[in-house]
Amino acid sequence: MALVAPSILSADFGHLADEIASISSADWIHVDVMDGRFVPNITIGPLIADAARRARDAHAPHMVVDCHLMIVEPDRYVEDFARAGAQVITVHAEACTHLDRSIQAIKALGVKAGVSLNPHTPESVLDYVLEQCDLVLAMTVNPGFGGQSLIERVFPKIERIRARIDALGLQTRLQVDGGVKADNAWRFVQAGADVLVSGSGVFGAADRAAAIRKIRDAARP
Ligand code: DX5
Ligand code: ZN
Repeated sequence: MALVAPSILSADFGHLADEIASISSADWIHVDVMDGRFVPNITIGPLIADAARRARDAHAPHMVVDCHLMIVEPDRYVEDFARAGAQVITVHAEACTHLDRSIQAIKALGVKAGVSLNPHTPESVLDYVLEQCDLVLAMTVNPGFGGQSLIERVFPKIERIRARIDALGLQTRLQVDGGVKADNAWRFVQAGADVLVSGSGVFGAADRAAAIRKIRDAARP
């Protein structure tokens, strides 16, 4: 069963707690952190991640707080996000000079470690770290903004990452992020994804519970 992880990037931050309550039927809450350097946009810092976590505690304690760091030098901030309540912290391979060290730093905080790859980044960058990863995030858009259309060319890469995870007998989760909607969710699952991030696909709908249900139903074999 694929997990559904709505991205709060497309939520109304004036009513963040209510927005998080509206997605309480989801599995994970995806927090998109952007610094205006690794990506052109600036979004959430540890302060808002902490507010999101508190809303999660109040309305949907089962949801896993999943922080996707689209920032340069992420090692400088992983502790702050762990303190804010992140249970998964994902860094970009392209942003880490010492990727192995960054993964170790996250795990030393007792947090699950993810590695994200931009659409153009070959999966071979995972060759010597995959066993250490709790999650791999295959970006299906160029990171920076919600509401973009997915880049089709990433599908074969998702398949190759899945094959590698299975060949090594790992439990590593394979997450996809960008342009995921109910009408294409099955294609990601078929390619091997097991965590589906969706921002505009969930928060763009008036009925969030129905949007989550539709993605989940579409992702079912
Ligand atoms: C993009 C972010 C995504 C984004 C997805 O840089 O990492 O999580 O919110 O939004 P949609 O689902 O609208 O493409
Ligand atoms: Zn994201």
